[in-house]
Parts: sequence; C-alpha cells; structure tokens
Amino acid sequence: MQATAVAQPNIALIKYWGKRDTELNLPAVGSISITLSGLYTRMHVDFTADLEADSLLVNGEPNDKLLPRLGRALDNCVGTDRPRARIASEANFPIAAGLASSASSFAALTVAAAAALQRDCTTAELANLAGRASGSAARSLYGGFVELKNSDDAVSVSSILDPLDWPLEVVVAVTEKGPKPVGSTEAMEISRQTSPFYERWITDQESDLATAREAIAARDFKALGAIAEHNCLKMHSVMWSSRPPIVYWSDATLACLETIRRLQADGVEVFFTIDAGPQVKAVCAPGSAPAVREALGATAGVQALLDAGLGAGARLE
Ligand code: PMV
Repeated sequence: MQATAVAQPNIALIKYWGKRDTELNLPAVGSISITLSGLYTRMHVDFTADLEADSLLVNGEPNDKLLPRLGRALDNCVGTDRPRARIASEANFPIAAGLASSASSFAALTVAAAAALQRDCTTAELANLAGRASGSAARSLYGGFVELKNSDDAVSVSSILDPLDWPLEVVVAVTEKGPKPVGSTEAMEISRQTSPFYERWITDQESDLATAREAIAARDFKALGAIAEHNCLKMHSVMWSSRPPIVYWSDATLACLETIRRLQADGVEVFFTIDAGPQVKAVCAPGSAPAVREALGATAGVQALLDAGLGAGARLE
C-alpha cells in the first residue's frame, strides 16, 4: 500500500502548447523532448494510514496549495474510491518555475500510486495517466529523446533515441526562483482563444516534428538546434500575441539568449530553449558544456546554473 518512485524532468525541443481536449488534458500537437539526468523528483505515496484526507509534504514542509492537484491526479490514476494518501515529495531543483517540475512530479506520483495499489499498468498506460495531470509528464515516463504523438483519445509516447547514442548535455540558467505568474493550463487556453497565431502554430507543428526527427536520427546538432530555437520562439510568439499577453521572460532571459548567440558565433555547439518560465535551457553538444557554463555564469541576472545530462524514464525505487 505504499511505494516510492523517482522521475526526471524533460525539456521539449519541439513544444506542446495548447490542448485539443481540456477534460482529458490531451495536447493539440505532438512534441519531442529530452529527459534529463541530474535533476529529479522523488515521490512517496502511502495509502496505509486510513486517513480522513490526503496530506502532502514538499521537501519536508506541508503544502496545501499543491495538494488539490495531486489529489485529483491520484483520483484519475487509481479511482475516486481510493483510500486517502500521505504524499511526500522531494525535488533537487526549484518547483513551479518553468523547470518542468510538474512533469517529473506527476510522472513519479503516477508510478508510485499505481505500484502502491498493485495496479498492473504498462508504461504506455502510466504515460497516459500522468499526461492527464500534466501533458508534459507523459514524456517523463521514458528516457533519452522522446516523442509524444496524438492518437484518438490518448497519447502514444516512445523513446526515439537512447541517451547513450547522443549524450547531449544541458545547462539551465536560473534567472528567477519564484513561482511563475500564470500556470501553463490557463495560459494555453488564453492562447487558444485569443492569439491570432495559434492556428498557424498548430498546422506547422507536423513539419517541425519531422525536421527534428530527422536531425535526431542523423545526430545533426546544427539542424536540431535551428528547428528547436525556431519552434521555441514561435511558441513564445503565440504567448506574446495572446490577450492578455503571456510573457514569461525577464531581462536575464534575453541576456542569456545574447550569450548563446555569441557562443554560437564563436563556434560553440549550443542552442537554447525556454518553457513557461524565465529560465533558459542551453542544450550542448558533447564537450561544449564547460564553455557554455562559464559564459552563462557570467551573464547579468543569472542566479544559478543547473547541470544535466540525458537520463532515464520514471521508475520505482
Ligand atoms: O505539461 P504542462 O501543462 O506543464 O505544459 C508544458 C508546456 C511547455 O513546457 C511550455 C512545453 C512542453 O512541451 O513541455
């Protein structure tokens, strides 16, 4: 009746932004991501205590703000008639700040909850259950390079390249540690309803996915970087052109992009991507990370650097 699971965040290179079904939390577009190593969320779920209500500790502190969303995820995963749970989560990186903490949290929660109640689920089923709570969490069930495709009323997720076959590294420049001003679920709906660029974003996604798939298969860093940066800036253009505008960037976000452009001009193999937050993720070809770390560390407004490689999918401990 209790289990612990660990999951790692993932960063989309070809992004998911917008839902085709808000009830089932199904994405409007496919996406391609990399699962990270080095950063993790560990979730312990305990159904043994015969409690009146769920409880949650985040890094040892009670957290009633995040509890309802985790409770709903448990309902979705193992049914509303489930026993109440004691949940304890621990992460070694800031949460709710555009660092994909929801992906690792819900992936780990789903794996732990299913195991605690002895549900015999395949990884594909677990990915769909995790995706109900957070679209990007479905991808953290798998390691390395991961593609999420839409299929009828579900998603189908698979690993498209093993991390050992192309061991990229990621340097995350943390520019702000606080929670983001607007959550991705609400922001995606605002974009869908108001951005004049939204339709075009959806129709162009297939071609971006195909370009990225080819670049990954060929281990073509330059081609992957070009399509990933383009796709990221397009997603942020959809956000910026929403009403009200959704702007997650800070001055330091832009300063990091300038640093990365300078590194690229100097021949360093690196590209950027940015999610629903002000942090900049610098994806580095093998061997480039030290130069990238040094340059981002010296960039105005950067508060911390996090280092990651490519890692494995969610698993029981
Ligand atoms: O899974 P959510 O609801 O946290 O949304 C993730 C959205 C982005 O991080 C901006 C893009 C992505 O594909 O991960």
